[in-house]
Amino acid sequence: MRASAVVLTGISALALSACGPSDTELNGHGASGNAAAPPAPAAVDSQRLLAADNEPGEWMAPGRTYSEQRFSPLKQINDGNVHELGLAWYFDLNTHRGVESSPLVIDGVMYTISAWNVTYAIDARTGKQIWRYDPQVDRDRARFLCCDVVNRGISAWKGKIYLTTIDGRLIALDARTGTPVWSTQTFDKTWPYTSTGATRVFDGKVIIGNAGGEYGVRGYVTAYDAESGEQLWRFYTVPGDPAKGFESKAMEMAAKTWTGEWWKQGGGGTAWDAIVYDPELKLIYIGTGNGSPHAQAYRSPGGGDNLFLASIVAVRWDTGEYVWHYQEVPGDSWDFTATMPIILADLEIDGKLRKVLMQAPKNGFFYVLDRVTGELISAEKFTPVNLWATHVDLKTGRPAITREARYGTEPVLLTPSVAGAHNWNPMAYNPITGLVYFPAQEHWWPFSIDPDYKVPDGPAQRTSTGTGGPMTPKRMELMKLADSREKGWLTAWDPVKQKEVWHVPHERAGNGGVLTTAGNLVLEGTAARTFAAFKADTGEKLWEMPVQTVPMAGPITYMLDGEQYVAVNAGWGGGMAMAELRGGRGMHRSDARVLVFKLGAKGELSPLPDRPPIPLPPPSTASKEVIDKGADLYARTCANCHGPQAVSGGVIKDLRHMTAQTHAMFNDIVLKGTMSGLGMASFANVLSESDAEAIHAYVIARANDEWNR
Ligand code: HEC
Repeated sequence: MRASAVVLTGISALALSACGPSDTELNGHGASGNAAAPPAPAAVDSQRLLAADNEPGEWMAPGRTYSEQRFSPLKQINDGNVHELGLAWYFDLNTHRGVESSPLVIDGVMYTISAWNVTYAIDARTGKQIWRYDPQVDRDRARFLCCDVVNRGISAWKGKIYLTTIDGRLIALDARTGTPVWSTQTFDKTWPYTSTGATRVFDGKVIIGNAGGEYGVRGYVTAYDAESGEQLWRFYTVPGDPAKGFESKAMEMAAKTWTGEWWKQGGGGTAWDAIVYDPELKLIYIGTGNGSPHAQAYRSPGGGDNLFLASIVAVRWDTGEYVWHYQEVPGDSWDFTATMPIILADLEIDGKLRKVLMQAPKNGFFYVLDRVTGELISAEKFTPVNLWATHVDLKTGRPAITREARYGTEPVLLTPSVAGAHNWNPMAYNPITGLVYFPAQEHWWPFSIDPDYKVPDGPAQRTSTGTGGPMTPKRMELMKLADSREKGWLTAWDPVKQKEVWHVPHERAGNGGVLTTAGNLVLEGTAARTFAAFKADTGEKLWEMPVQTVPMAGPITYMLDGEQYVAVNAGWGGGMAMAELRGGRGMHRSDARVLVFKLGAKGELSPLPDRPPIPLPPPSTASKEVIDKGADLYARTCANCHGPQAVSGGVIKDLRHMTAQTHAMFNDIVLKGTMSGLGMASFANVLSESDAEAIHAYVIARANDEWNR
């Protein structure tokens, strides 16, 4: 099965590009440049990427180097002077949706990707736009994104920038102009797939996975030729229908760990973030996702480990052939993915230098694996409370899952939650301190099997993940309790001793990704809408600046004309913001920006606009039955964007605050897709007219609760 790429002709490519640059705007003076001939944009190849440490002023790959340590050797900005850090410039990303990517900086040009996959090249000195590329994604696809219209990064190779779109295209752009060179469709759009991961390039190949485990898909990872877009290999993360034959021996092995007819609902295992290349061992490590549907009872009713869900799988870089795997969550039923960032390092453990990989996934255990063999070296809990498992047996590699974690139809409050003890937010390893830094959290969730779950009658029809259920008083009470127990902090973890060395408590969960530097610094965005610097060895807070929004993404650093800069994409959104009860507390819907800092700079952000007044809602006149029905439908179909219990997280509009005009158009918006251009698709395939009216009645009731409080 070979998919060939569409090579775009000059005319259509130009039509897609919003604006072209003049050549002078592209001049850069990077390490490889010279005064006479400006370097070709994004001129990176194997040689340059493998020797990235020789050019510490650049940030040429999502995690800077192939090890994805997110450590920078730069130290002009350091623990002695970081208090002088100020805003050098900022760049408006023209969205209020989440931004999760780290920019690249190559030879003086910054490349970054924002919500809806809009991609920019910016002068890294001045913040002036060089080009903007809008792939015009199908906005209705947003319905199949659990966690916002985000993207986690782009990559560069020999004059091209690679991005993936939420509607499944992998696109190569000319780095000079931002015009597409080729584009290929990476999934079948009749299934509810999306694509949000960072692209990675190695050895002339560009690799990407996909997402959609919440909606019913089968995960896989595909490598394409970076020059032509031609498909080179594909590795499925879960088996398909055995009657159709297996793609590989690995799938045959995996199928023995499944029961029932899982393939009809996809099975899951989507690789939506961590895919790491190991140039030394010529392996690719893939972090795989949760089961689909979440509840194993509905996915693989006879139980089983369900390989390769929630696993790290090593495959050969040239063929995608299976080499080893380690499964972190056998028989996942908790939405525990192993897609969180993977870092490669050489660590001295028990007197021996070991080639390891490290991960701190949702399930709350910090894993250190031998990356040659996949052997589990150690695994320890990194949060004080973990009700899912007591420990991981180092002999068998299996978690000791608690009895209470085996939930039934009655909700059980557990931590870690579906949002995890650590999510996608980048972590960083500092070889000088020997510590790994990441935003950890204690987050709770009432887990239960949804008694009303029905196997969907086709792809893209699912309205339940198999967990959850009616919003009973018990569930409401547990959600409130979950809310009151939420905590978030920055942790510094010793991966050899497997213990925390320091931690800095934050206001709440959902803090940003991390950068660490040779200047003894850790930089992080916080959920208190600040950007902050900490001392890498002690955790002392050295500097903090309010930035109006939560920079969730991983910061980067670069050097130009002898001056060091720190940059971060600051645009709050994503799963925590949209689907969490507490998410929106006090949060202002704010514009996303690239923020760039340097020593001595005094720049200021333009002030936030005033919030519009909240309109008085119409009176609540519907019967309790109708409102209850609406509450249930709302929880299943609307909550993951408009917020649980009709309280918005501040990213998407709060339905309690609709104007009279919007109330009048409610059914048209929900069933006819009149706002689909904004990312509000029609729900006519899963909701009837009276369903929409019941949801409307529920929202009005919630609005009146708010006014009468
Ligand atoms: C995939 C995310 C998503 C889901 C799921 C979703 N919406 Fe929306 N909705 C949006 C976006 C985006 C907008 C546009 C306004 C904005 O950007 O906040 C919107 C706007 C609306 C508006 C107009 C609000 C206003 O004040 O202008 C209504 C009404 C609405 N949605 C109802 C619903 C209902 C009812 C459901 C569940 C059946 C639902 N939405 C599910 C994303 C979503």
